[in-house]
Amino acid sequence: MEYRYSPEFKQLIQNEELVKGFLTGSHVVGFDFKLWEKRRSFIADAIRKDGTILDIGCANGFLLRSLQEWSDHRLVPFGIDIEPKSIEKAKALFPANANNFVLLSIEELDKAGEKGIPDKFDFVYWHVWDNVSFENGEEKWAKSALDHVLKGGRLILGFYDSRESNSERIETLESFGLKIDGIEINKNGEEVICWIEKA
Ligand SMILES: C[S@@+](CC[C@H](N)C(=O)[O-])C[C@H]1O[C@@H](n2cnc3c(N)ncnc32)[C@H](O)[C@@H]1O
Repeated sequence: MEYRYSPEFKQLIQNEELVKGFLTGSHVVGFDFKLWEKRRSFIADAIRKDGTILDIGCANGFLLRSLQEWSDHRLVPFGIDIEPKSIEKAKALFPANANNFVLLSIEELDKAGEKGIPDKFDFVYWHVWDNVSFENGEEKWAKSALDHVLKGGRLILGFYDSRESNSERIETLESFGLKIDGIEINKNGEEVICWIEKA
């Protein structure tokens, strides 16, 4: 798919050094922008309306900035992370929304309001870290993330590991009573997303 990027975004991604920094700051290794697009743009398919989106573990915010371009919908970005440097970078990437990025861990999601960001969002995205197997109680994080989705919104979970590991982890999550409403496999890679609607 050919994306028609905004002039501001085009300017960002034209600069090879900047892109390298964005990708490193997003913790991807060996990617250039084209590969980033191939491996991440399908996440936008789960976004079906305008709204607020919280990225849990937002790193430098480059995924959120890219999703704003890949999605046909207007997204107001919010992010939390445990790395102070990442939050600083995300604030710099979104100067108009700098206050939407705060130092907070997934374990402390209930403190979002105290940190000055909303308590609930139209979309909550969590890239389920590769070391999260859902066999050590981490399903509580998925349940807590769902608690922070507004009615009519979606919790979107992204899995970037091997296809087998991604499928196994989604099955394990379901075994804890979380009803998955949709799954999409990336046509250009091993990644999978699944989502849960907030009724
Ligand atoms: C691979 S990056 C994901 C960046 C972006 N969300 C994406 O999907 O491309 C994972 C991020 O999660 C953050 N992280 C790790 N443990 C966390 C926790 N317990 N709470 C919040 N963020 C965490 C890391 O600091 C890192 O920036």
